[in-house]
Amino acid sequence: MPNFPDGFLWGAATAAHQVEGNNLNNDWWQLEQLAADYGVEFSGDACDSYHRYEEDMQLLADAGYNAYRFSLEWSRIEPLPGKFSRAELDHYRRMIETAQRLGLTPVVTIHHFTHPHWFGERGAWLSPTATDDFVRFVEQACTILHDVEWIVTINEPNVLAITHGGQRQVAQGKPYPMHALPDQEIGHALIDAHLAAAPLARERTGAKVGWTVANQALTPTSGNEAKHAEVQYLIEDEYLEASRGDDFVGVQSYTSQPVDADGIVPHPEHDDNTLMGWAYRPDALGIAIRHTHEVLPDTPIIVTENGIATADDERRIAYTQGALTELAAAMADGVDVRGYLHWSLLDNFEWGRWTPTFGLVAVDRETFERRPKPSFSWLGEIARRNAF
Ligand code: FCB
Repeated sequence: MPNFPDGFLWGAATAAHQVEGNNLNNDWWQLEQLAADYGVEFSGDACDSYHRYEEDMQLLADAGYNAYRFSLEWSRIEPLPGKFSRAELDHYRRMIETAQRLGLTPVVTIHHFTHPHWFGERGAWLSPTATDDFVRFVEQACTILHDVEWIVTINEPNVLAITHGGQRQVAQGKPYPMHALPDQEIGHALIDAHLAAAPLARERTGAKVGWTVANQALTPTSGNEAKHAEVQYLIEDEYLEASRGDDFVGVQSYTSQPVDADGIVPHPEHDDNTLMGWAYRPDALGIAIRHTHEVLPDTPIIVTENGIATADDERRIAYTQGALTELAAAMADGVDVRGYLHWSLLDNFEWGRWTPTFGLVAVDRETFERRPKPSFSWLGEIARRNAF
């Protein structure tokens, strides 16, 4: 069984809005009210990790992990434009220090999908002030990140450009597009924001700075290689290329899809599909890592997300075992991978839905009790041995 390099990060990931609870001042909270009639569920108290983060981290440390990825909530830190909450910055500083005290390397995401109301009111990423607004937030964030080694500026800009592109269509009276590509204008605004924020964060903190990309592990169907290349660029590679020169890039992989003459083929219904409706593809991680390495041969990779939405924890273990086998094979072929952060630590608020359970740890939503699943200790043991 392969050993991993010394210092390899083994951890799990969360995002603020999915676990904290009561993020009253962001666009998701607003959407949860507006779209409730369309089946969008309410995040509410989420997992109450805003108060219980130490318990979450203690679980990780006790089980053998050495890293935790979590995000800052912009709407808490900057509730009004230019008005910063020192108390909220201190809250996230305490999270960083708690992780460090417990022997967990914090991997801090500055922006994970949510925006303060006021940013949305300005037009979000289409606002002419978007980059300046984001940079001003990043400057404040840097005041608590001085000894953090790994910083993600923006999580999955390519997915954000798809979801915000969809909302833009709805605002224009069109139906929400089901299988859309990123809105390029929004995508380019996110690239601009990253290109402005990353050097600043690097200079202010000395951290290794990058961003994370949703890897689609797209494969061409016979005769559709040109269409595949076109879609691949628009949905993923443009965002990978924006990462050239960064200290690392985050690979986030769950499944794989073919591309035919019409574009990405929706996942066919299948007994094996995950609770997201995605095809069961543990091999996707290998495709994603190798593709990222092809586009960015000189950039170290961290797997910042990989996991499966399932109610069957044995299946989670099987999926992760398959994914780690692919990861080890890619590393044996020379790809520089620095860590594996499973999505997710907790069963959490999956952007409008509670049923897709990605957690290594279940959460009782009445008592907030954490109940580790067998997969949690299984992966923790791999982490402890740094081998599997
Ligand atoms: C990614 C997101 C993460 C989570 C997983 C399932 O797109 O970054 O927050 O929802 O998918």
